[in-house]
Amino acid sequence: MPTATDAAAGFVLVERRSRAAFVTLNRPDAANALSKGLVSGLEAVFKELAGLIKQGDDLRVVVVTGTGKAFSAGADLKERRAMTLEQTWAFLDELNRLMNLVAAFPRPVVAAINGAAFGGGLELALACDIRIAADTAELGLTEVRLGIIPGAGGTQRLARVASVAAAKELILTGRRVRAQRAYALGIVSDVVPADNLADAAAKLADEIAAAGPLALAAAKGAIDGGAALPLDEGLALEAAYYQEVLASDDRNEGLAAFAEKRPPVFKGK
Ligand code: COA
Repeated sequence: MPTATDAAAGFVLVERRSRAAFVTLNRPDAANALSKGLVSGLEAVFKELAGLIKQGDDLRVVVVTGTGKAFSAGADLKERRAMTLEQTWAFLDELNRLMNLVAAFPRPVVAAINGAAFGGGLELALACDIRIAADTAELGLTEVRLGIIPGAGGTQRLARVASVAAAKELILTGRRVRAQRAYALGIVSDVVPADNLADAAAKLADEIAAAGPLALAAAKGAIDGGAALPLDEGLALEAAYYQEVLASDDRNEGLAAFAEKRPPVFKGK
């Protein structure tokens, strides 16, 4: 399992359970604020996990969550205060690299939002494919209250994940909304009692991990790649991805398993 440079000195924990990896933001004393150390730790972990998949590892899903009360309070405002404009700009670049890495990760990534997800914390969750939240969690893109705007994809991803209306409501007010309201806005797809969040995330991971890995990658690619395309181009993209899975052994295994009334054993080939 990845040690990922000890994930920047323990700021990120990685636990492998069968075909799922659980990645935990681990700066509980700072509400898991996205410091340089935490961001580079996350980047290292996601790169390492993607590298494992390339080498044939059967990882099928990643779950991201936080230690302690918060998912992530966003940018580390204490660290930020000591940065020059150039340093801030360079760090934003790195933050965006991380978000893009998560968004383009070749398997589904689930955010299990265990508590506050503000600013960059919510942007990280928005870069994931599926979000579930504890009923006690609060979400917000609060940047305008600090005189800035979301800078790690928030204005774009929230509008696409939920709606332009939801993005404008949250971003232009900078308000914090409860998980249930985030559910109503389409930002999270499930809200569960806080004590059940870890189980719910594990169950969701199991459900995803039962699918063919090539199919997961192709489906994610088709959905994300098609999102900004006109329908006919999106359909052509879907057809191209379909051709890839059609030619796979996994597709034959899926059909054979159905005929033999047994669970499929996918090999990612
Ligand atoms: N950057 C750096 N440190 C942060 C932080 C951030 N974004 N958010 C919280 N912390 C620190 C606090 O300063 C505190 O440290 P201290 O014990 O040295 O004072 C510690 O994390 C715990 O925070 P605290 O506020 O005491 O915990 P809480 O459980 O009552 O509240 C939050 C947690 C996340 C709701 C609250 O800290 C908060 O609102 N943070 C600011 C979030 C924000 O505006 N983010 C910026 C988005 S652009």
